[in-house]
Amino acid sequence: MKTSVFVGDLADVKADILVVNLFEGVKEPGGATKRADALLGGKIQEAISLGEFTGKFGETLLLPAGEGIKARWVLVLGLGKKEGLTLDRVRHLSLYPVKTARKLGKRRIATVLHGAGAGGFRAEDAAYFLGLGYFLSAYSYDAYKERKEKSPAELVVVEVDRSKKGEIDDGLKRARAVAEGVNFARDLVNTPPMYLRPSDLARKAKGLAGGKVSVRVLDEKEIKKLGMNGLYSVGMGSSSPPRLIVATYRGGKAKEKPFAVVGKGVTFDTGGISLKKWEGMDRMKYDMAGAACALGVIKAASELGLKRNVVAVVPVAENMPSGNAYRPGDVIRMMSGKTVEVLTTDAEGRLILADAITYARKKVGVSAIVDVATLTGACVVALGGLAMGMMGNDRSLLDAFRQASDRSGERAWELPLYEEYGDQLRSEVADLKNIGGPEAGAITAGFFLKHFAEDTPWVHLDIAGVAWTEKERLGYAPGATGAGVRLITEYLRS
Ligand code: BES
Ligand code: ZN
Ligand code: ZN
Repeated sequence: MKTSVFVGDLADVKADILVVNLFEGVKEPGGATKRADALLGGKIQEAISLGEFTGKFGETLLLPAGEGIKARWVLVLGLGKKEGLTLDRVRHLSLYPVKTARKLGKRRIATVLHGAGAGGFRAEDAAYFLGLGYFLSAYSYDAYKERKEKSPAELVVVEVDRSKKGEIDDGLKRARAVAEGVNFARDLVNTPPMYLRPSDLARKAKGLAGGKVSVRVLDEKEIKKLGMNGLYSVGMGSSSPPRLIVATYRGGKAKEKPFAVVGKGVTFDTGGISLKKWEGMDRMKYDMAGAACALGVIKAASELGLKRNVVAVVPVAENMPSGNAYRPGDVIRMMSGKTVEVLTTDAEGRLILADAITYARKKVGVSAIVDVATLTGACVVALGGLAMGMMGNDRSLLDAFRQASDRSGERAWELPLYEEYGDQLRSEVADLKNIGGPEAGAITAGFFLKHFAEDTPWVHLDIAGVAWTEKERLGYAPGATGAGVRLITEYLRS
């Protein structure tokens, strides 16, 4: 999508649809909306006075523009209550004009910034979130459809104050960089699992190499040799053997230790020998959303030109039942040396992540780690689709993620790792078992990983509830959401 900033009167901007806005409960529009109303001969005011348009969040009023306005249509967008407008809601709001444009078959949208005037947001932030919303909403996954979605191709931000142009340009540029990372992740997650087996994911990761990004892929022999038996065991049930992707972005000083993003890359999770029931199993193509996020972060970091070193460590496996599959009852010696008793082969994510965390610590030498994974159904039960679960072993890193969550608009809610939860992972035959029983499933999974993070500052993000949406939610269209990319990128940026 092309973007530009038009400085001048909104009557003069050439577009198919011109978007202005209204806070809920405002009886007489001001600013740009007042100007549009004057040009439309009072039609907006009329709709408000008749009570047919109230400015509720996401409500739209579409009016033919007529003479005096170069745009063809004017769309008034409800911003909801003034106190309730957050920057992430500015992102969310972009979905509605995009939907209108698709319905009308229109390609060029002009819009004012939302919340930059009466809302009090900085123009740069308002432009960033608005742009992000357009880039994310214009995305569609139709690789396997005959009829492709026609999405808007051009976005023009209309601003009367020339002094704000630079800030708006910067915000849009940043939005494009981050959205490329998010949409890269969405593409990977949306891909049918037959086309995204471990070797395919490794190949797609290699496509990121270039500039400051280098990518190395370890095959099953190297994985075995390193003693990464967690990853090896989970992956060897498949005819497409496991891989470890190590993608490095070098934007910082040569000596600076990289920050690691470890992403769960189960390209399909059948449950293995502990086979899942058939209903909803198709969803388990999304079980590599953590991997997609880690690679998306590398892409976003490189597009933004961040001045830091970042490494994505991505264990990739397909969890299948077969004659070579690992079994309940097996005891695995992990790369760290700890042994794990397998009670269900469906708790596979923590096994591959644990080895990847050890690899990051021992082989890469990282400053800190965030892992991101569609790890537990229990996290979906606890938080639903409105927040990811967050855990960790380092207060200041957790606080930094909490703040990055607030700034990015991606909600992360901390769950406690009280020592006593660790008791649930005690095994009779090994150092740990891979499940902690029916209670506190999201936490015991996090606790399992904590054993492998050891003294490295570490945060765990469980994105099982937020990486995919069945229905439109928080401004995200159905399908993969690219969860985590914005949060982690925002953490790295600060
Ligand atoms: N990939 C799943 C997590 C998952 C399950 C996400 C259901 C969304 C919905 C993970 O590998 C898994 O199967 N976890 C098990 C763990 C359990 C056996 C301890 C789960 O959550 O049921
Ligand atoms: Zn599983
Ligand atoms: Zn899984």
